[in-house]
Amino acid sequence: MRKGFIFDLDGVIVDTAKYHFLAWQNLATGLGISFTEEQNEQLKGVSRIKSLEKILEWGNKTISEDQFQSLMTEKNEEYLSYIAKMDQSEILPDVPRLLDYLIKNNQGIALGSASKNARVILEKVGLKSKFDTIVDGTNVTKAKPNPEVFLIGAKQLEIAPENCIVFEDSVAGIKAANNAGMISIGIGDKDILAEADFVFNDFTTIKNEFINQLINTQKEPRVL
Ligand code: BG6
Ligand code: MG
Repeated sequence: MRKGFIFDLDGVIVDTAKYHFLAWQNLATGLGISFTEEQNEQLKGVSRIKSLEKILEWGNKTISEDQFQSLMTEKNEEYLSYIAKMDQSEILPDVPRLLDYLIKNNQGIALGSASKNARVILEKVGLKSKFDTIVDGTNVTKAKPNPEVFLIGAKQLEIAPENCIVFEDSVAGIKAANNAGMISIGIGDKDILAEADFVFNDFTTIKNEFINQLINTQKEPRVL
């Protein structure tokens, strides 16, 4: 059967979650707002605008619209300075193996990311051609946990949502996959990603047999 495999980007395909963290932390420190790893967890998968709104809320700060825009630009410029130095070594372990296995087995492959920098990053690490379709922060209006990004991915692959499988490292992204009626696979800590259907530390622990099972079994309808 042809299933749709939809991948988040930051923290799933490439090790960029640490750069988002660094850039937000510097910005928060500059505003006199403390910013912890736990708070950062809540920003994973969350759009740039929503992330800044949350940081300001945590710090109890109100700023003008102009300041808001310039802080977003500042954060993105710092993030881009990290990205500029990226190469293939920042592809997370076994991601190419999995993508090649899916291609060999004629499966649909999509990117479903909140990032507006997704295309440039995939090009930089040489993985863009592995994807049948890319849906990113420039294509969506509703941020994860809204399922929009994954539903557009499924539509572009021409595969029904219940035949799609999502790989995600964020709580918001797992919720989005579940809201889309897809199988959700967490990449990371099972206590943090507790709402996922399956959780793996990383792709090295995902065997071909597990992928074969995903390809060959139909998803049970989710009990809401
Ligand atoms: C997500 C990241 O993939 O993209 C978030 O997990 C980030 O941390 C969001 O805020 C938006 O990314 P960008 O690159 O458009 O600022
Ligand atoms: Mg992510």
